[in-house]
Amino acid sequence: MNEIAPHISAAAPAPKCATAPVGLLAELTHRCPLQCPYCSNPLEMDRANTELTTAEWQDVLRQAAEMGVLQLHLSGGEPTSRKDLEEIVKTAADVGLYSNLITAGVLLTRERLQKLAECGLDHVQLSIQDADAANADRIAAYKGGLVKKREVGRWVKELGLPLTVNAPLHRQNIENLPKIIDLAVELGAGRLEVAHIQYYAWALKNRAALMPTREQFMKTVEIVEQARERLKGIMVFDFVVPDYYAKYPKPCMGGWGSGIINVTPSGKVLPCHAAESLPGMEFDNVRTRRLMDIWLQGAAFNKFRGTEWMKEPCRSCDRKEIDFGGCRCQAFALTGDATNTDPACSLSSRHAEWFKVAEQESHQPAPPFVYRRIGGDKSKAEPADADAGE
Ligand code: SF4
Ligand code: FES
Repeated sequence: MNEIAPHISAAAPAPKCATAPVGLLAELTHRCPLQCPYCSNPLEMDRANTELTTAEWQDVLRQAAEMGVLQLHLSGGEPTSRKDLEEIVKTAADVGLYSNLITAGVLLTRERLQKLAECGLDHVQLSIQDADAANADRIAAYKGGLVKKREVGRWVKELGLPLTVNAPLHRQNIENLPKIIDLAVELGAGRLEVAHIQYYAWALKNRAALMPTREQFMKTVEIVEQARERLKGIMVFDFVVPDYYAKYPKPCMGGWGSGIINVTPSGKVLPCHAAESLPGMEFDNVRTRRLMDIWLQGAAFNKFRGTEWMKEPCRSCDRKEIDFGGCRCQAFALTGDATNTDPACSLSSRHAEWFKVAEQESHQPAPPFVYRRIGGDKSKAEPADADAGE
């Protein structure tokens, strides 16, 4: 490994943020057997031969714990594609990080999950594509996924680990939400994330194939509210609304450079998973700079930290320290300027125009998916298909 500059630059100004984020999102690899068309990975993914080694990841975790990070989210791609996952989990436990494995589950065996639990894994987050097996296979372009996920859910419970089910929701599975909730209960989840798709990267490319109508979205609000009441004490719900139908934007990442630090498979350190889509930004790498130095002094982290970078209407808005102007990546993708107000905000001059896009796309027939594949988006798309339940 290259020599890393020690700690914070000597002449550095006082930081304008917490000395450490709460969470580290460790994207261990972009390799994945699934090809979900809403994947949050960048369109240009890191190749296996550029990935951090076991020792490099272990060093990142030690640095994270030293600076005060509490939670480790092991993500990808599919993190179980890494043969050294056990060693990485063991290091996380040794340095006192709470570890959460974010997985599609399809590569796991019971033996491997047991080994991970013995190494100190604290929590499993299992993604599901749909409660309808054939539709789930079509969405992920992977056969037999749901059968495997049922097994994994059972093993997680048998091993005494807490389970969250993550269900990305879109026009091609939205009518099955009641069955998805039943499936999460059957799997023994203590938490269900009903997460309407956020439109970055592959999801933005597939927006017309994924965008539900406003009526479909409103129905999901009702279904989740009723289920929340019915399943009190059994399962907790997280509900992520689609930005296109929101009044105000979400505080993306809890605010830029505020709560999360993201390390990519090749060691780049990002303020959010989509930050590489912003032009003119330079990202430090854990191979050449200490994590804490990057967090406190890195140019990318300070670019949109706090509120000083804001333009109107955010600058004089009383919500600016609640949502931090929304999402920088979405503002850039939809307006061409990352310092603009996120169009998800009803106070943005672009809001009406963007709502109209969602209305139009969601009422037209869904185009074929462009599946997430290494090598970009030039690969074969699936044939056009009808929406689930329609
Ligand atoms: Fe948030 Fe800016 Fe909209 Fe105010 S104007 S609600 S700060 S995005
Ligand atoms: Fe980058 Fe929202 S995804 S700031």
